[in-house]
Amino acid sequence: MGRSSDAPASARETEENGATLGNVEPAFSAGDSFHRVFESAPFGMALRGTAGDYREVNDVYARIFGRPAAEISGCPGGAFLHPDDAVSDKVIFQKLVTGQVDGFRIQRRVLRPGGEVRWVSVTLTALAGIPVLEMVEDVTEVRRSREEIREREAALTHATRLATLGEMAAGIAHEVNQPLAAIVNYANGSLRRLASAEADLESVKQALGYISREAMRASEIVRRLKRLSRREDGDRERVDLNAALRATADLLEAEFGDLRIEVSFDLAAEIPDVLIDLVQIEQVVLNLLRNAIEALRGWDGTRRITLSTAIDGERVRISVADTGPGLEPLLVDKVFDAFFTTKRTGLGMGLSISRTIVENHRGRLWVQPNSPTGAVFCMALPIFGEIL
Ligand SMILES: Nc1ncnc2c1ncn2[C@@H]1O[C@H](COP(=O)(O)OP(=O)(O)OP(=O)(O)O)[C@@H](O)[C@H]1O
Ligand SMILES: [Mg+2]
Repeated sequence: MGRSSDAPASARETEENGATLGNVEPAFSAGDSFHRVFESAPFGMALRGTAGDYREVNDVYARIFGRPAAEISGCPGGAFLHPDDAVSDKVIFQKLVTGQVDGFRIQRRVLRPGGEVRWVSVTLTALAGIPVLEMVEDVTEVRRSREEIREREAALTHATRLATLGEMAAGIAHEVNQPLAAIVNYANGSLRRLASAEADLESVKQALGYISREAMRASEIVRRLKRLSRREDGDRERVDLNAALRATADLLEAEFGDLRIEVSFDLAAEIPDVLIDLVQIEQVVLNLLRNAIEALRGWDGTRRITLSTAIDGERVRISVADTGPGLEPLLVDKVFDAFFTTKRTGLGMGLSISRTIVENHRGRLWVQPNSPTGAVFCMALPIFGEIL
């Protein structure tokens, strides 16, 4: 970006050995009180010309940029920014000085002399008499700790997902075994027919069709498991929630059968696709279903789990209802705490992780009583990914 043609005459700059040496006098006449604020502000402040050029910066601003104030003053806007952010700086300035907007808030990267990158939060305001006032705050550490929290959360989510899959291993093996056993049966039957004197080709053809269908079923289960065991989170994708719910419940088919739990679906017909990380939301549904199964284990009353979907304004609501003993009113908030468990072998992380996942999708997860007995865990997810 070149030096702006409309920079004030007082903003002189000297080019020496290719380096820009600022040697600039204050570019405008502001009152003393303004200058006192400018100099003593606890955050970085800069006055910038209509082309984005730096007219004056305070000490905090200079410190954030890792350069003397005199070096920055007089330089074109974006001179010390990451190239991508320098482009957006130019665009923003155009909007500010042409009066399309009065102010802007944005985060961007500052390049310090040694190549170090600092993230800053920038507020740009168009002011009468001063083309643009810029206020900056160094948010590198805040961003770093947020990033670390996110990474730790992801590692924990993954670890608990693997633990859940480990606990489900026996049931899953059963699920995969069923189609394999069917394949063996069909194949043996076909071999017998082919070996007999008058081979019935039509029924062999039919058996091959069944074999192919069962093999697809087994490979679909394996594919889902592989995806659930992946470390990295998937990208947000458009998902048919009704289909995802059915497929997730399929993984627990064997446990439902063993415990004689009746599973029913009450799915909204016209549900729009939602933008979600499918692996993570499946993990939530698995956690809720496993809790419901555990609540019904040893329960003498009706053993039913109902999965439903419904549209609720800008959100879709998914609920997992069971007919078990339900929750003591006092526990309704506690169950979402990390490490809260009433089970002998429970970790107490299922609901806590589930709530984190749902909230990262800008959704909500809560529990309410079922009637006459049991618990209903509900999750509401924004249809369009984010409701701001
Ligand atoms: N459907 C339910 N009915 C009754 N109580 C429930 C239900 N779901 C959860 N709870 C209660 O909430 C507690 C916390 O559940 P959470 O899933 O967080 O942990 P957990 O199931 O105990 O262990 P894990 O980490 O293996 O999931 C459970 O121990 C149980 O007391
Ligand atoms: Mg659990």
